Amino acid sequence: MKRTRRSLRLVLAALLGVLLLTACGRNMFDQPRVDAFDASPFFADGSGMRPIPEGTVSRERGALEPAYLTGMGPQGFLTELPIDLDVDVLLRGKERYDIYCAPCHNYNGDGRGMVVQRGFPQPVSFVDTQRLLDAPVGYYYNAITNGFGRMFSYASRVRPEDRWAISAYVKALQLSQNASVSDVPADVLSQLTQTEAAR
Ligand code: HEC
Repeated sequence: MKRTRRSLRLVLAALLGVLLLTACGRNMFDQPRVDAFDASPFFADGSGMRPIPEGTVSRERGALEPAYLTGMGPQGFLTELPIDLDVDVLLRGKERYDIYCAPCHNYNGDGRGMVVQRGFPQPVSFVDTQRLLDAPVGYYYNAITNGFGRMFSYASRVRPEDRWAISAYVKALQLSQNASVSDVPADVLSQLTQTEAAR
């Protein structure tokens, strides 16, 4: 009996302690700061935000190059990559393509990825449809950015630079999937046949 009363007292004391420790004011919530677009009596123009100094230039890539962000120039879809093409760009494009596109478009671009095998509408093959073989690199960039028919946009998930890398990789995939042994340079071919023979 005595013991239960003592533990009850302990619990009460602990509860009281917790109550005393809890902050009661709301001053953590209501901080004396100005949020974006808030009005403020502090400045003469009544706005909390300050006007941007004249001549300010955004440092975000593409701010001055709409074609880089949209994939379209005055002549329509860009036919050339607006970034420098090297092996690293293609490897990055392959990595991103395998993550974001291959589930539907498949690793080889034939449009029979796993999601399609599970019932999603099948897209046209990138690698044996003449219309898509002829499509410029900006066409791919545009589809990733804005979506295409039943395919949703990847703008929120894939950064512009990576969209260009993926688009470059799709063009490379089209070449590689339609290449024949005679397209392989002789020295690389002999290396490949040696590796094959060594197996
Ligand atoms: C969830 C499945 C899915 C994913 C993931 C996906 N797509 Fe698609 N994509 C489709 C479907 C389905 C279509 C055809 C839509 C239609 O015709 O309504 C399509 C169409 C396209 C087209 C236009 C083809 C044409 O017929 O002109 C391009 C280009 C394209 N996708 C590129 C990509 C790229 C690049 C990625 C990766 C960033 C990607 N897609 C990711 C399902 C997908």
